[in-house]
Amino acid sequence: MKTSILALLAAAAVGVLAQVEIPAGVPRSLEEFREKHQYKSRKSCTRKTVRIRSSQNATDDISDAFLQGLKEANHGGTLYLPKGHTYMIGKPLDLTFLNDVHVQLDGTIRFTNDTPYWQANAYRHPFQNSIMFWKWGGKDIKIHGTGVLDGNGQRWWNEFAGLEILDPTNAYLRPVLFYAENATGLDIEGIHLKDSPCWTTFIVTSKDIAFRDVACTAESNNATALPKNTDFFDSLNVENVTVERAWVNIGDDCFSPKSNASGVHVDTMYCNGTHGASMGSIGQYAGEKSIIEDVLIENVWLLNGQHGARLKTWAGPDVGYGYINNVTFRNFWNANNEYAAFLDSCYFNINETTCAAYPSQVNITNVLFQNFTGYTSGKYGRAVARLTCSPNAVCENITLEDFHVTSPCGAPVVLCDGLTEDIGVPCVKAASVEGKAALKPACTTAMAALPEPTPW
Ligand SMILES: *[C@@H]1O[C@H](CO)[C@@H](O)[C@H](O)[C@H]1NC(C)=O
Ligand SMILES: *[C@@H]1O[C@H](CO)[C@@H](O)[C@H](O)[C@H]1NC(C)=O
Ligand SMILES: *[C@@H]1O[C@H](CO)[C@@H](O)[C@H](O)[C@H]1NC(C)=O
Ligand SMILES: *[C@@H]1O[C@H](CO)[C@@H](O)[C@H](O)[C@H]1NC(C)=O
Ligand SMILES: *[C@@H]1O[C@H](CO)[C@@H](O)[C@H](O)[C@H]1NC(C)=O
Ligand SMILES: *[C@@H]1O[C@H](CO)[C@@H](O)[C@H](O)[C@H]1NC(C)=O
Ligand SMILES: *[C@@H]1O[C@H](CO)[C@@H](O)[C@H](O)[C@H]1NC(C)=O
Ligand SMILES: *[C@@H]1O[C@H](CO)[C@@H](O)[C@H](O)[C@H]1NC(C)=O
Ligand SMILES: *[C@@H]1O[C@H](CO)[C@@H](O)[C@H](O)[C@H]1NC(C)=O
Ligand SMILES: *[C@@H]1O[C@H](CO)[C@@H](O)[C@H](O)[C@H]1NC(C)=O
Ligand SMILES: *[C@@H]1O[C@H](CO)[C@@H](O)[C@H](O)[C@H]1NC(C)=O
Repeated sequence: MKTSILALLAAAAVGVLAQVEIPAGVPRSLEEFREKHQYKSRKSCTRKTVRIRSSQNATDDISDAFLQGLKEANHGGTLYLPKGHTYMIGKPLDLTFLNDVHVQLDGTIRFTNDTPYWQANAYRHPFQNSIMFWKWGGKDIKIHGTGVLDGNGQRWWNEFAGLEILDPTNAYLRPVLFYAENATGLDIEGIHLKDSPCWTTFIVTSKDIAFRDVACTAESNNATALPKNTDFFDSLNVENVTVERAWVNIGDDCFSPKSNASGVHVDTMYCNGTHGASMGSIGQYAGEKSIIEDVLIENVWLLNGQHGARLKTWAGPDVGYGYINNVTFRNFWNANNEYAAFLDSCYFNINETTCAAYPSQVNITNVLFQNFTGYTSGKYGRAVARLTCSPNAVCENITLEDFHVTSPCGAPVVLCDGLTEDIGVPCVKAASVEGKAALKPACTTAMAALPEPTPW
């Protein structure tokens, strides 16, 4: 492993960070990630192998063959999609009948980019108006290999440019790349989830889910149409979720279980350009109860993004209620992010007056931010973390331990509002003299540099 140096050329109104070293052994690119966490495609000798024809060109839809192949491989077999072959999917597929099936994906599965067709024909889920190319479900499903699941997102991002997913009037819907519902035992290993039009994965009412050694990237070739809302992981109603070794370079949440998640463990995740490792958002829908519980997220490196460790709960006149309990964020390294730790009880897009009039009804208990290092972007001046509790909900045992994040603007400050207990480090209210002074300096750091040309 080469020594990784981040050159920070950056100018800052107050302070200048000269050079920051990425901790030894931390990969800076997908190539280095693959080198460090090696993954080999393993062919089973005991399972029946099914093959299907591959596509001849970009419009050669093999979805019927794919469906047939999965039916044949179901109950103990493997659908084998070898390297060097592309499988174009041009029709929605209902794959919820699976039971003990593997897909060895060493080639590429790619969706067609006929956006009007998909908008008219994709499956729908009411949560945030989601649409999906296909739906997977059943028991003991494993997708593994060194191949690519490609959402062909560029045209979707181009056409979506300027719109907002959470705008209730938005009518331009974009499909989720990988959707599963009612799955028990879903393993995704090795593959590269690439260029999703919208969320990369969305797992609903499922349990025993594992992602291992996966890469998730979304990169636009159009500077005015960035890949928006391409979250690596989203879920509703899930139990027992594991993520081990993920490389994520996308334009929204790196990892963000939503309503009803319990037993979640993430170990070793690298996130560039993301909105952070988030709990939620939850509490969006009026009258609906949502919970997130028993979560450990550890060994996370976050570069060039919005926030680091984050909890988001909705406030406003028509929202839901619930709780987030027992969440540990451990060993987080930040480079050029906004807040390294952020508890936001005023989600989404509402001003302080409305938030105060209609505070969040999501209780937050037993949350630990442990061993945080690195530096922020300076966007919020010297404020490196912000914890805002709702006056309408319980906020208990929220603690920062070994929290050593610095700011390019000077002495770091932690902001806390609505917390009655000691949080383990000194903190000040955002509206206090000290809080305002900490938020005031406007300084920036340079992009945390990655190798040129990048292998992404
Ligand atoms: C794409 O391949 C299919 C299947 O071989 C063929 O029928 C079709 O004509 C090809 N289309 C183009 C544009 O080459
Ligand atoms: C969920 O999957 C199980 C088998 O895994 C099946 O028996 C059940 O009918 C499915 N439920 C729904 C709502 O699809
Ligand atoms: C880039 O995105 C913009 C929308 O922001 C779109 O108008 C333009 O056509 C796109 N450029 C290309 C080359 O597709
Ligand atoms: C969690 O899921 C994994 C499969 O990903 C399974 O091996 C394990 O037994 C499950 N644990 C519990 C407590 O159900
Ligand atoms: C890392 O993320 C930043 C911010 O989104 C992006 O501008 C940059 O291109 C990414 N780096 C690489 C090597 O892709
Ligand atoms: C979450 O679970 C609660 C029950 O605790 C249920 O009422 C609610 O509908 C669930 N949320 C979703 C999105 O399914
Ligand atoms: C908190 O969550 C972690 C991670 O899931 C779990 O191991 C632990 O048992 C939970 N603690 C309590 C008190 O339930
Ligand atoms: C939030 O905490 C309050 C006070 O302990 C409790 O009455 C309420 O039921 C809790 N809400 C939920 C959804 O657990
Ligand atoms: C703290 O986290 C860093 C990575 O962010 C890790 O290298 C270090 O070993 C951790 N310290 C402890 C005591 O676990
Ligand atoms: C806050 O938002 C509400 C609702 O959009 C609006 O009516 C109000 O004028 C805003 N208040 C301020 C101070 O911006
Ligand atoms: C506070 O929360 C942390 C993290 O969930 C937990 O380990 C600890 O036991 C809690 N402390 C108390 C007093 O409940």
